[in-house]
Amino acid sequence: SKSGIVIIGSLNMDVVVTMPRLPKLGETVHGDAVHYVPGGKGANQAIGCSRLTAETTMIGCVGSDMFGDMILRQMTDNGVALGAIGKIEGESTGTAHISHTEDDNCIVVVAGANSACTAEYVRRYEADIQSASVAVAQLEIPLTSVTTAFEIAKAAGVITVLNPAPAKELPDELLRLTDYITPNETEWELIGGTPCREDKEFEDSMTSWELRYGTKVIVTRGEKGCSYLDGGRLITVPSPKVGVVDTTGAGDSFNAAFAYGLSEAKPIGEIARFAVSAASLSVQKFGAQDGMPTLTEVRSL
Ligand code: RIB
Ligand code: NA
Repeated sequence: SKSGIVIIGSLNMDVVVTMPRLPKLGETVHGDAVHYVPGGKGANQAIGCSRLTAETTMIGCVGSDMFGDMILRQMTDNGVALGAIGKIEGESTGTAHISHTEDDNCIVVVAGANSACTAEYVRRYEADIQSASVAVAQLEIPLTSVTTAFEIAKAAGVITVLNPAPAKELPDELLRLTDYITPNETEWELIGGTPCREDKEFEDSMTSWELRYGTKVIVTRGEKGCSYLDGGRLITVPSPKVGVVDTTGAGDSFNAAFAYGLSEAKPIGEIARFAVSAASLSVQKFGAQDGMPTLTEVRSL
């Protein structure tokens, strides 16, 4: 019988520079500090799931360098199964270059070894996908790898969750293999193809999308929480007011908790509330992974 969560995705070293404000084009500013912390949307979500007590396997690739070793150690320390993580000879580990200010951050990702997580690589670990109850992917590995993973998952009756981040155009083939899609507002505007400000605009675009692809849409909305459709009506689960230290990884925390809820076969409303709580806890600590809450922490909120 199926159990656990499999994450197919990226592992990065986050190089975080904290600065009073972002430089303008062509300008130089002085940063306050630089931190090297394990990240990558795939790895963040895997750690998020594992902290919530889900049995978690990750399929992905790091390079044969010090960053790769640091990331693998962090995964082990957090109870994520490493059997399907490749250490690619001669490749550099993926990096994310994060400019972090008090208000926000912006990120440049360099794929590095994440490019070696090809469709062929994913196929080698098909048994890990087939035995899971939920499969989750993001868009920091090649698109064909995600499609391949979801083909394997759907053929085996595994629930698929696509976190379309960073956003890009998605082939219909992949969308038909996706049970749940979890964009943020910006990603939804890009993928859904219509600007959304009013609730009505979200409701309409989500309705037509769900009809077209048979995919359930859950839009994460930062401080506003998240929105999904129930019987064709937009339901918004608000986020509790919290002191924000670092929003990096908030979406990952949401997705991890969302996948956990699905693996426990909870109803959508309960899953949405749980995931919003998890995300709101994650932003209260620095770094993408350090703030990922445990099951006890989410429940006591
Ligand atoms: O979602 C946050 C993650 O996106 C960071 O950890 C960074 O690696 C980027 O890929
Ligand atoms: Na955080």
